[in-house]
Amino acid sequence: MDKFRITGGRALKGRVSISGAKNSALPCMAAALLSPETVTLHNLPYVRDIITQRRLLEDLGATVLTPELRTHKISASHIELFEAPYDLVRTMRASVLALGPLLTRFGKAKVSLPGGCAIGTRPIDLHLIAFEKLGAEVKLEAGNVIARAPSSGRLIGGEIHFDKVTVTGTENVMMAAALAKGRTVIKNAAQEPEIEDLAELLNKMGARMKGAGTPVIEIEGVEALGGAEHTIIPDRIETGTFIVAAAITGGELEIKSCRPEHITAVIHKLREAGVEIEELNQSTLYVRRSNGGLKAKDVTTEPHPDFPTDMQAQYMALMTQAEGESHIVETIFENRFMHASELIRMGADISISGNTATVRGKTKLMGAKIIASDLRASASLVLAALCAEGETLIDRVYHIDRGYETIVRKFRSLGADIQRISESIAIAADAAEAHTK
Ligand code: UD1
Repeated sequence: MDKFRITGGRALKGRVSISGAKNSALPCMAAALLSPETVTLHNLPYVRDIITQRRLLEDLGATVLTPELRTHKISASHIELFEAPYDLVRTMRASVLALGPLLTRFGKAKVSLPGGCAIGTRPIDLHLIAFEKLGAEVKLEAGNVIARAPSSGRLIGGEIHFDKVTVTGTENVMMAAALAKGRTVIKNAAQEPEIEDLAELLNKMGARMKGAGTPVIEIEGVEALGGAEHTIIPDRIETGTFIVAAAITGGELEIKSCRPEHITAVIHKLREAGVEIEELNQSTLYVRRSNGGLKAKDVTTEPHPDFPTDMQAQYMALMTQAEGESHIVETIFENRFMHASELIRMGADISISGNTATVRGKTKLMGAKIIASDLRASASLVLAALCAEGETLIDRVYHIDRGYETIVRKFRSLGADIQRISESIAIAADAAEAHTK
């Protein structure tokens, strides 16, 4: 397993461009399954999850051409398999996004249940209840979800009220309802920018939906969808991560190709905490830590448009460098504080009680050997290491490869001392170290 070796203490300076949003790219790729015509997607981030999603589409029978690194031309004219197998769902939960498109276009779909993951149980019960509301028969068999459309072969529009806001659940239902017979209304829908991006693509393909980005989405089902060309929105979580990187290292960054309006809650909170964030134009931010230093500010994660759970870990790393005590409340996922124990090993003063982390700052962080546990936790550990004294070795960085494009290259271009050590070299280095002890 690859590791990162980071020597902290350098203020990051320079310009960085934000990549396409992984969480928008994944549903948009799945949406290509809805049509026999080609869907061309631009600005896909070059990250592991996109490669996994591509593999899933190809396993199902789709053809994926890559005329350029970040462009996929997906043609699902000959789908032969209607199943997302366990080995893919296990590595990437978002493969459940194949369920809605397969079920609605072909009348059948089988997806392995995602099961537990590092940040909690993450069930898909709400997706399944919604499919049943659209007339599907849903069975659980040997760890798989097997869904079938009614005997007419087509799902039937209906009213769906999600008990809890679910992002991929909303996306799955939007895709399923796009080809259902009649009208579907999704209430308590997720409002994330990725939902709007997916709706934009679906409407370009010929779907008839409105209200994406609000809690109520209305969809008038159509009989068939066509091809389309679409550019994925910039990654708001990567944007937030670089804002924190500037602040935590006391540096100055120009962050380009981003959409500040997608992270207003993050920008607002970070400004309160003493980060200077200026919108140079609609797609560029200038960020630095204000002269007064960082102040502790409480935060609670909530569905969009509030503070995203995917920025919680990075915010915790930042709060270790703020004066005072901050409370971080995680309301979306249980068990999403695993980065805390690693930050504590680096010298942070953090205690956890239920879904609240209390961070007492400012603490000096020291380099250590630490382990990444999930995608956003790894980002927070990289941020902590960038401001720590001495060398940090982060293990299991495959988590970060799932969602951050060329992170090592991006940080190095800003002056960070960060290196990827591939497995064989890491083993040799460990052996040499053991030998000298
Ligand atoms: C998506 C994002 C992920 C982000 C999360 C919350 C993608 C690919 N991933 O994940 O990065 O952290 O939104 O913003 O877009 N739940 C149920 N039953 C369900 C579905 C969800 O109980 O059927 C619960 C979950 O366990 C969780 C909450 O609802 O507690 C929100 O989950 P959800 O919005 O579905 O997260 P994902 O779509 O998996």
